[in-house]
Order: sequence, then structure tokens, then C-alpha cells
Amino acid sequence: MYPFPAGFFAPRNRWYVAARSAEVGRTPLERFILDEPVVFYRTEAGQAVALAGRCPHRGYPLGKGRVDGDAVICGYHGLRFEADGHCSHIPSQATIPPRCQVKAYAVSEQWDWLWIWPGDPECADPALIPDHRALGLTDPHWIKRPPLYWHVEGRYQLLNDNLLDLTHLTVLHADTIGGGDVAATEERHDEGEGWVRSTRWIANAHVTDWVRRSRGIEGPVDREIMLTFAAPGFHFGHDRYFRAGSDPGAATPLLDIRIFHAVTPATRNSCHYFASSAVDPATYELSRSHPPDPGSALKIFTEDVEAIGEIERLLAASGEFEEVPLRADVHGLRGRRLVQAMIRDEALPASAARKSNHARGREPADREAVEVK
Ligand SMILES: [Fe+2]
Repeated sequence: MYPFPAGFFAPRNRWYVAARSAEVGRTPLERFILDEPVVFYRTEAGQAVALAGRCPHRGYPLGKGRVDGDAVICGYHGLRFEADGHCSHIPSQATIPPRCQVKAYAVSEQWDWLWIWPGDPECADPALIPDHRALGLTDPHWIKRPPLYWHVEGRYQLLNDNLLDLTHLTVLHADTIGGGDVAATEERHDEGEGWVRSTRWIANAHVTDWVRRSRGIEGPVDREIMLTFAAPGFHFGHDRYFRAGSDPGAATPLLDIRIFHAVTPATRNSCHYFASSAVDPATYELSRSHPPDPGSALKIFTEDVEAIGEIERLLAASGEFEEVPLRADVHGLRGRRLVQAMIRDEALPASAARKSNHARGREPADREAVEVK
């Protein structure tokens, strides 16, 4: 499925952000994850639960039911499913058919995000989730912005592509964070096991009125933008502003913002987008008189969300197309290959997957195993 080869969609045995913690409570929340309906709620003790969101009886959405104790009750015929997915009560009969159960997903609550493992729960190791403490998201000395959420009407890799190619800042975000010629600035690539990183140092950049107003920075400045993509859907990095003429790597920033994005496939043609950031108050010149305003960033995200929706609209109307790759796409293509390799490796027998060494550009051996049903 574009932008991957036919048959590729998303890796299942990975952690994805499913919801902000505050969204999950004692009222069922339905959210599609990798093309499957999932119902989220909390037990009486406050433990987050994620169950397959379709009642196995008549297929009614469990997200339209209600929570009772630690269980969810289907709103159609009253079947009761406990937090481990087993059915404990059917109002119309005393016996429970063996197949009358729903999948219980592995979940892990980290900071203000609820993570879900769509694949085999036995493989779900919370240690594989990027550590928000190590990444500085929850540094108590920094000013944190509450996590934001958008439902995006576009396939998830389009949003990953967006975050992997920051040359769009110069055009799509020209009025906000597009200050300095990001598009014309060479980027440095770094990569490792499961991740790729892009870093730019933009010398003598102008700042937009938006930055001047909302961030208290006067130009010109030197600016460093770094974003690391930890496949299949987590991006973290920083946006730092320095006095013009600074020594890269040695100067103290005027403003230092840590950035966190999470992208999760919802359906084949839509995704969930979570974002947060944290600002070093010591570098935030106007922090006393201009405390961080989460709303001021909404314009930027809205521009991205709308752009992805426009691309998806054309894909839906006229089908897939052959892109013209540009030099700026080198980094993004590396990111796509990472995700593609994860999908392909899940389709291979375990031993073959180990030997595959992330071979590029092959069709999956077992298409059915790759496509999420
Ligand atoms: Fe953007």
C-alpha cells in the first residue's frame, strides 16, 4: 500500500501510542488501531484495558457498551467481557461458547500516553518503549506542554514522511516555524538499529513574526533542528535557537525546545497523531511574561494534518502514483525502508527473518501475514 509496495501496511509486533491517558476512563473509548476496532477503558483500580472492540456475537461495537466493575458489557445483548477478554456472562443462556471471547491487547502507560502492542501479547516488552525520562519529556525542570491529539484522514506513513522531510517547514509553515531557509540547508544523516536521524544547522536565519511573538526570539539567529525517527511511529528531537554566529555544538541556546511526535495507524487510510514538547525555562526569554501557550502551536499541526488529508484525498480519488524522488527525500526513504523491513520481517519465518539482515525492496513472503486483517 502506497508509499510501500503492494501488500505492506504496518508492523504489528511494535508499541504504538493509542491514547492520551486522560482519554481513557470508565466510559468505553473506541479507537481503531492497525485497522482493528479496539475498546479502551479503566478497571475500578484504574488499570487501563484494551480489548478487541467488536462483540463476537453479532459484531456490535463494545465501544458503544458500558463499563461495569472491571468488565465491559455489550450494549446489544448484554454479553459481559472481563479485562482479560473472556466472556463471563450471557443474559440469554447459562453456558459460554468457547469462541465467545475477545482479544486482550498488551498495554503500557508511560507518562501521559497509553501504548498498545497490536501483535502477540507474549512479545510485548515495555522496555522497548522509548524512555520519556531519558528523552527529557518529563524533566521536572522543563516546562512541559500537555499532549495533543489529532485524528488524521491520511495513511500513517504520509505523516511519518512529513516528519522525515523538514524541507516542508520553509513552505508549509512559512509563517510560523519556517524561519531560515530549512529547505536549502544541508542535513546530516545518522542512523542505527531501528532509527534514523536528521540534523540541520541553519546559520543566520531570520525569525518569523510568530516566533518573535510566541517565543520571544529576535533574529537573526542560528538554529539547530534535529529529529530522530524511531520506527515505526515515534519521532523526537529539538528545535534550538542561538545567537547568530554561534559555534555549533558549543553555544548556549537562546531557546531550547524538545519535540515529541507519535504516529499510529488507525485504518489503512487514517492515523492517530500525538504530539508534545518541553521547553527549557532557562532559555525561554519571555517565559515569565509569556507562559507557553499550547494553542499557539495548533496552527502548525493543523497545516500538517490538512496537507496529509489533501494527499490522501487524491490517492483515494485516483489511486497510487509513481513519485518523483528528490535529493531531500534520501532521509525519508531511509525511514520508509526501516518500517518496510519491520513489516517484511514479521512475514518471514523466524529464522529467515534473522538472516534477512533487512534486505531491501522485496515483496513479503507471506502477504496475508503482513496485511493486517
Ligand atoms: Fe510540519
